[in-house]
Amino acid sequence: MGNMSATQKNRIHEERIVFANEALERQLDKVKDAGFRLCYHMMPPAGWMNDPNGLIQWNGEYHLFYQHDPYQPKQGPMHWGHARSRDLVYWEHLPVALAPSEPYEYVEFGGGGCWSGSAVDDEGVLTLIYTGHVDGRDPEEVQCLATSTDGVHFSKNAAGPVIPGPPEADCFGFRDPKVWKHGDVWYMVVGYGKDGLGKALLYLSDDLREWRYAGVATESDGTMGDMWECPDLFPLGGEGRHVLIVSPMNMGATKTLYMTGDFDYESGRFHRRHHDRLDYGFDFYAPQTMIDSRGRRILFGWMNIWGARMPEQAEGWMGAMTIPRLLTLAEDGTLLMQPVPELADLRGKHTAVGRLGIDADTVVNLPEIQGDALEMIAIFQAATSDEAEFGLQVRCSEDGSECTEVKYRPADGKLTMDRSRSGAGDGGVSEAFLSTMEDGRVKLHLFIDRSSVELFAGDGRVTITNRIYPDPSSNAVRLFARKGAAVMEKLDVWQMKSIWPEE
Ligand code: FRU
Repeated sequence: MGNMSATQKNRIHEERIVFANEALERQLDKVKDAGFRLCYHMMPPAGWMNDPNGLIQWNGEYHLFYQHDPYQPKQGPMHWGHARSRDLVYWEHLPVALAPSEPYEYVEFGGGGCWSGSAVDDEGVLTLIYTGHVDGRDPEEVQCLATSTDGVHFSKNAAGPVIPGPPEADCFGFRDPKVWKHGDVWYMVVGYGKDGLGKALLYLSDDLREWRYAGVATESDGTMGDMWECPDLFPLGGEGRHVLIVSPMNMGATKTLYMTGDFDYESGRFHRRHHDRLDYGFDFYAPQTMIDSRGRRILFGWMNIWGARMPEQAEGWMGAMTIPRLLTLAEDGTLLMQPVPELADLRGKHTAVGRLGIDADTVVNLPEIQGDALEMIAIFQAATSDEAEFGLQVRCSEDGSECTEVKYRPADGKLTMDRSRSGAGDGGVSEAFLSTMEDGRVKLHLFIDRSSVELFAGDGRVTITNRIYPDPSSNAVRLFARKGAAVMEKLDVWQMKSIWPEE
């Protein structure tokens, strides 16, 4: 394709970006804060947000792009929204980075657009690799590329898609490229579904423009869903060990999976040793990771799920990211997710509660602790009678009719988050299993933010992420024990500051 059409191509794109930013500006006036806007989580200024895209630390700053519809708080033609941070804590919203402008991003029936993908630094050029999606009875998916030298304005590849289609016809999805460099070679995993099996396909390139298909890195064993969205394959824990994260479609309650094992760069195959759910909540999907300059593997997830009731749409926006999570591997191969230490910058007023015995079947009010934006660390003694269950209730109304309950039963290690009394939005109980720590204690670390609760239990062995939509006045915190007594050893609570300048 000649120079002329490259210019034209980007003129159309620039025009679409202008429209998108104008639309976003108009949407801003419609955003109302009726209690669900988050204080310290990334969310769109207005309009719709889903998957985190293009996570990268570039020129010392963290960039977070996301699937975005700037025209409405509903899923529509996908753009890439964009935010930047120096410290993973405070975020600055930037103009829309990508808008659909090409026939292979053409939107016939409302969906489609510039779908999910990743970012790399190509000798100083910030390069985005994403899926061009055309909706229709047989969706068409190609892998595309766009570049920027200033980290704000992006040009689409003049020659069009860099991978023109899936390796075989009749597939159930071919999207969400995640690219990384190993030695001098660029590697890409792409999500794929074929014959009822989710798969991660592997491609190789020397220049990010020409890609060679290198086969299936790994695939479902028949129980892991029929299409793997948003695959992410990365080294973690040394000695060639790798982790693959995927968001499988049609795997029941399991929405995200991680697999640990070895990746063989010679054969391009990932040998899986262990797999498990990544998060046990309802609202955690399409996570993506990046490595930062300190060598840390950091993850953001979309803190919603397709098909849920989304009460924040009535406020003119929809969607949020989880807090940034630091990934490490435990000795036994379990993937641990913990809040990045930088978040401690947001800690405001601190309240500590010392050792407290809780009688069987009682609820203990903590009148000194109130709030809808809190970090809490509770340590319980797990050595109780066989039947005993205990935990915390947060976002409680005064009359007790509304609350979100986190409960642990040491006898079988069952950990739950019950949002059946959490207000508007979907209810349901999230369930996971967690063994107690070696000293017989259990640690529950919670981040509460207006319409969200993230639980990191057992130092990140189990996480449960949920959106909740309680009344803004439901701000009380309680402790409880049932079917037996319990001992809470210590509770630390911090009021969390807002990251948004206007508050
Ligand atoms: C995951 C996903 C991706 C796709 C994007 C579209 O949530 O379905 O597979 O690229 O969202 O917005």
